[in-house]
Amino acid sequence: MSESSGFKIIAVDGGAATGKSSTSRAIAERLKLMHVDTGAHYRTLTYALLNAGADSAAPNAIPALLESLQLDTTIQGRSALLSINGHVPADAQIRSPEVNAKVSKFAALESVREFLFQYQRSQAQVARDLAEFTGLIMEGRDIGSIIFPNADFRFFLFADEATRAARRSNDGQTDSIAERDKRDSQRKTAPLVCPEGAIRVDTGPLPLESVVEHICAIITA
Ligand code: C5P
Repeated sequence: MSESSGFKIIAVDGGAATGKSSTSRAIAERLKLMHVDTGAHYRTLTYALLNAGADSAAPNAIPALLESLQLDTTIQGRSALLSINGHVPADAQIRSPEVNAKVSKFAALESVREFLFQYQRSQAQVARDLAEFTGLIMEGRDIGSIIFPNADFRFFLFADEATRAARRSNDGQTDSIAERDKRDSQRKTAPLVCPEGAIRVDTGPLPLESVVEHICAIITA
């Protein structure tokens, strides 16, 4: 994926509360990358589907609902946010207990993943077209395995369960991270895996700054 322009694609994967978002945002700031949180994509889509009356247990009705949703991108600082039918929901709306409880059920559906696949890949071109970005950092569960298997760098973040639970409760969120991880790892389509050849980073014992430093050093070496 590297080009003579130096444009870089960096994939960051890992389970819930392993530090993907804080780490990716800080790296984007330092290296002038466009940051894309694909967990937020699944959350935004789940929020829109729930508002449209969708039920993940009745997947046959979902493709017709998806057809009525228009996806676009809004740039906010270094982050590219998904808008649906011209609207970017507030963080509190996509991180509510209801979305936390349902998102991994919708994310396991093939129709939902197919719907986001091209959109997520297209974000590389969005970053290329904007002069302020030198590359793209995308975080999620299947970025290094499915979305950008040829990314210039692929990282897999992990941490012990106690640290992750503490991070979520510090965020003030009600979230069953172990349950979500289990669903995400066991689903048939695009399960959460450490992509082959990805660089594993244990974020449990390290402060955020050290994780960011470590990853930036690898990218800029
Ligand atoms: O990253 P975050 O915890 O916000 O992700 C919310 C959910 O979105 C995950 O639990 C997972 O079910 C889904 N997801 C996914 N693939 C991605 C990113 C997130 O299935 N690339």
